[in-house]
Amino acid sequence: MQTTADTSSTPEAWTPTSWQGKLAAQQPVYPDPEALKRALGQLGHLPPLVTSWEIENLKHQLAEASRGERFLLQGGDCSESFDDCESAAIASKLKILLQMSLVLVQGGKKRVIRIGRFAGQYAKPRSADTETRAGVTLPCYRGDMINRAEFTLADRTPNPELLLRAYERSGLTINFIRSLIEGGFADLHHPENWGLGFVANSPHAAEYMRMVETIGDSLRFMETLTGSVLADINRVDFFTSHEGLHLYYEQAQTRQVPRRSGWYNLSTHFPWVGERTRALDGAHIEYFRGISNPIGLKIGPGVTPEAALELIEALNPQNEPGRLTFIHRLGANCVEKCLPPLAAAIRREGKHILWCCDPMHANTETTKDGIKTRHFDKILGELETSYRVLRDCGAHLGGVHFELTGDNVTECVGGASGVTEADLSRDYRTSLDPRLNYEQAMEMALLLARLMAQSNRPPPSPAQRDTRPPSGDM
Ligand code: PEP
Ligand code: CO
Repeated sequence: MQTTADTSSTPEAWTPTSWQGKLAAQQPVYPDPEALKRALGQLGHLPPLVTSWEIENLKHQLAEASRGERFLLQGGDCSESFDDCESAAIASKLKILLQMSLVLVQGGKKRVIRIGRFAGQYAKPRSADTETRAGVTLPCYRGDMINRAEFTLADRTPNPELLLRAYERSGLTINFIRSLIEGGFADLHHPENWGLGFVANSPHAAEYMRMVETIGDSLRFMETLTGSVLADINRVDFFTSHEGLHLYYEQAQTRQVPRRSGWYNLSTHFPWVGERTRALDGAHIEYFRGISNPIGLKIGPGVTPEAALELIEALNPQNEPGRLTFIHRLGANCVEKCLPPLAAAIRREGKHILWCCDPMHANTETTKDGIKTRHFDKILGELETSYRVLRDCGAHLGGVHFELTGDNVTECVGGASGVTEADLSRDYRTSLDPRLNYEQAMEMALLLARLMAQSNRPPPSPAQRDTRPPSGDM
């Protein structure tokens, strides 16, 4: 594994606990503070889930993406659930991300960084602290790390033991993913792993299978040419991420490691700050400014260029490439207007930012039956507009962030398979935000790959240009 020079160090007046002196939004209130202390004490002694080498390797790759040399694909559930910590669900999440990345490699002709929204995505920001049903008011559900979704007082009361259960499930998930990858799950010599299963009849299946075949042919050609097996082809890097929301949990896994300066959050490779917790003077920005991981920052339509520059100054004062990814989620209706001033200000100041579009979170709608959904066309629209707008501003779209699943759920509307609002109730499983299903996610990747391929293509030379009159004139 590649390592890079260590450029990180601890910023002034920062400690893993200095966030406690600031206002921390979206934190649960535990009825028994002693029980919380005990759970955190245990968490602080348990081994890390990831290593600083992996984290520095990812930062190096993200720096390459910010220069246009790689492309970032980040995706997974809005919120992981403890019940889904089982082999089929984990394997199908890994498979969809690998398949999408294969498509993006083909289209973009650059290496893809794969980051799962998993192995720790167990805490959620909520718009209200409580929920009322039939006159009963209880704390809202904040993710399996904090409480349980069932509407009883016992389930909804924040329980610190769940922090340990979340850590354990994160460890089980990451262990299985590492084993699958080491065992050749991503090996292109085995096309049976790359099949489309239940989406094989989709209108885009043929295009995808052609890609897999082409890659297989090129692989065999190279092996015939060199007379050796390209063993490393099954060695893909895979990284984890989650919203760094529960600051006591994040703090307990924040460590120093031998022979490196600085502090690492060793619960995940790539933690991000959510749209609701990015106040410049708040506890989350205080915590994040001190860790050495590459980090993401969600950026909604309310961010002014001045506020964006202040956040960059707080989170990446050394202007280290790869350190900071802006995960912009502006909405299909706002992106055309909101993105150019942000991109222009950042470019003018010479700041190194990786632009990654989350086309999900500002395109959420509620149907007339009260079901939360997202429209495929709006998701695609925000991506396409981001791609064009950033290019026109002299920057570039360096990544995408999706909420998706490898299953055949009906949560988002649209796509080639034509999921309608009436279909939503057929298999609506998410406890929070609606996700692209397997087929919709693959289609999204194919359309994005086409966009990347088109803009990679050089303009036709005068000799190549077709000068014949339109066919109707012949
Ligand atoms: C999320 O990513 O699930 C989320 C809550 O996003 P945001 O912070 O952008 O609203
Ligand atoms: Co979400």
